Amino acid sequence: MSTDREIAFFDRFEAEHGDYDVLAESAYVRILGELARRLRPAPGMTCIDLGCGTGAFTRRLGRFGLALTGVDISPRSIARAQQIGGATFLVGDVAASTAPAASFDVAVMSGVLHHLPARHARVAGLREARRLLKPGGRFFSYDPNGWSPSMFLYRDPRSPLYSPAGKTENEVLLTRRQLAGELRDAGFSDVQVAGLSGIAYRYVEGPLARRMLPLYNHVYENLMRLPGLQRPLGTFLIATARSDRC
Ligand SMILES: C[S@@+](CC[C@H](N)C(=O)[O-])C[C@H]1O[C@@H](n2cnc3c(N)ncnc32)[C@H](O)[C@@H]1O
Repeated sequence: MSTDREIAFFDRFEAEHGDYDVLAESAYVRILGELARRLRPAPGMTCIDLGCGTGAFTRRLGRFGLALTGVDISPRSIARAQQIGGATFLVGDVAASTAPAASFDVAVMSGVLHHLPARHARVAGLREARRLLKPGGRFFSYDPNGWSPSMFLYRDPRSPLYSPAGKTENEVLLTRRQLAGELRDAGFSDVQVAGLSGIAYRYVEGPLARRMLPLYNHVYENLMRLPGLQRPLGTFLIATARSDRC
């Protein structure tokens, strides 16, 4: 795993494109709906978004009236997030933030765990999230699902249609079982991980993928919402858990 190259990738993305905001609004609505249903966030609660990038997801959490902090390892992403506003944004590593222990009601990792290729690095990030949570605090994350047919075809090096375009060398595909085990190893309880479909993209790298995007967004993602397909094979894995630390 190369943290330096991860920083360089996202710093360069910011320099070339500005805001990192790659999901369609309808996808954010789906993800935020899951967060609302599972966590029941209330105005005034404190929330930290670990690996916040330029704050695309952090800002959208604003609709719940939360007091928001975002942390990311890419200094250019954080500078952009600070410019856009909507939260307190700090440069830092998800495994070693400078925030005080037990100071948040909610900890979020929005598309970040799959950027930590080693199991021990993901568990270290999850332990840090747990350290930051108040007793009874809730964790929420989303990442591409290793069992999703589209993620396998596009993002697994074993696939004939694999494309590394727009992908950092650290990215891996995670499974429900893997993520649930890692959350438990980090000390979380009430762990739930399930697939979610209806994840349309606003932006993808690579000319072929861009041409296929309308078909993907409107046909494939809707098909995968069918009962029986979404939970095991849905495009993203949504994970929630509770910290019972006293
Ligand atoms: C796919 S982007 C997601 C960004 C943002 N959460 C969003 O939803 O748009 C992954 C982010 O994880 C950050 N990241 C990767 N490793 C990190 C680490 N060890 N500590 C903090 N941030 C990290 C990257 O800099 C990048 O901004």
